[in-house]
Amino acid sequence: MAKRSRILGCGSYLPANVVTNRDLEQRVDTSDEWIVQRTGIKSRHIAAEGEMTSDLAVAAAVRALEHAGVDAGSIDCIVLATTTPDNTFPATATKVQAALGTKGFALDIQAVCAGFVYALSIADNFIRAGQATRALVIGAETFSRLLDWNDRTTCVLFGDGAGAVVLDGYEGAGTSNDRGLLSTHLHSDGAHYDLLYVDGGPSSTGMTGHVRMHGQDIFRHAVSKLSAVVEEALTANGLEPSAVDWLVPHQANQRIIDGIARKLKLSSDKVVLTVDRHGNTSAASIPLALCEAVHDGRIKRGDLILMEAIGGGLSWGSALVRW
Ligand code: ACO
Repeated sequence: MAKRSRILGCGSYLPANVVTNRDLEQRVDTSDEWIVQRTGIKSRHIAAEGEMTSDLAVAAAVRALEHAGVDAGSIDCIVLATTTPDNTFPATATKVQAALGTKGFALDIQAVCAGFVYALSIADNFIRAGQATRALVIGAETFSRLLDWNDRTTCVLFGDGAGAVVLDGYEGAGTSNDRGLLSTHLHSDGAHYDLLYVDGGPSSTGMTGHVRMHGQDIFRHAVSKLSAVVEEALTANGLEPSAVDWLVPHQANQRIIDGIARKLKLSSDKVVLTVDRHGNTSAASIPLALCEAVHDGRIKRGDLILMEAIGGGLSWGSALVRW
């Protein structure tokens, strides 16, 4: 027997305002053709003025609780992955806690685009250690607020949104046939801190700052590090790539996603893709994609799901989940 965390349900939320590549052509020197060819992105959702990360997170969490069929009062832990908190402190998760009426404790974690995989791992560890019984794991971002809308190399890439899952502890058999999280693998390498960062912060400039990125270097690291971390996940569970039913990757760039799918010899119909309509929503991208494929019926009970993500830090990781 082994203590496991299974996913009882998921929910997501996207702001109403859709910004297309054509809209961006009016703001910066770019083209729909360039953006689609280099990234696969066609449009993204942008939060309305006054719409905050906590608003997106609460909307996604309410839907996740509904889908899971559980009361907010039964949740004793919230782990919210975000790079764009409402305020520098307190944790945005505490605002979500108050809005939902959950018990126990609530914290934010910061691993940029790898945030959701990190948050899943943290909540899973709380559950397996007996410190929580039922957790809400949320990825929520108003990433548009960190963008320099005059910098065409970054502003075309990102979007806003939120996704959430309800994790619940149970006793599994301890095999890869168990439902829920089979494993998570996390890595970071601060030697690459300057490849992708925000040029501000409370302790440095006192300002929020804007995203700066060395895109080609990130691209190279993404392909090699994500390939390694998905292999690590499969090896740790004694599984072959052919056992994977769905790749639910972080949605930064379709070319990176295609590269990982090719390495795993997964056909494109086994890959959940939302980057075309969401852009890169950082910590929200995996739960947004997961929810889409669960709610449209592609992901079914018993399916094996491989998640992977990389972001600033560099921070990266994978999660293997049986639905
Ligand atoms: N429109 C038109 N031209 C552009 C644009 C744009 N939006 N942006 C850049 N260009 C130009 C550049 O100026 C350059 O022009 P030049 O050759 O005259 O100098 C040319 O296009 C090529 O630029 P590159 O940067 O070499 O383009 P590349 O093919 O590398 O694509 C991209 C850039 C899409 C950013 C890619 O490198 C990438 O996806 N990198 C990975 C990003 C990523 O995965 N991030 C994940 C983590 S995000 C996080 O953690 C927050």
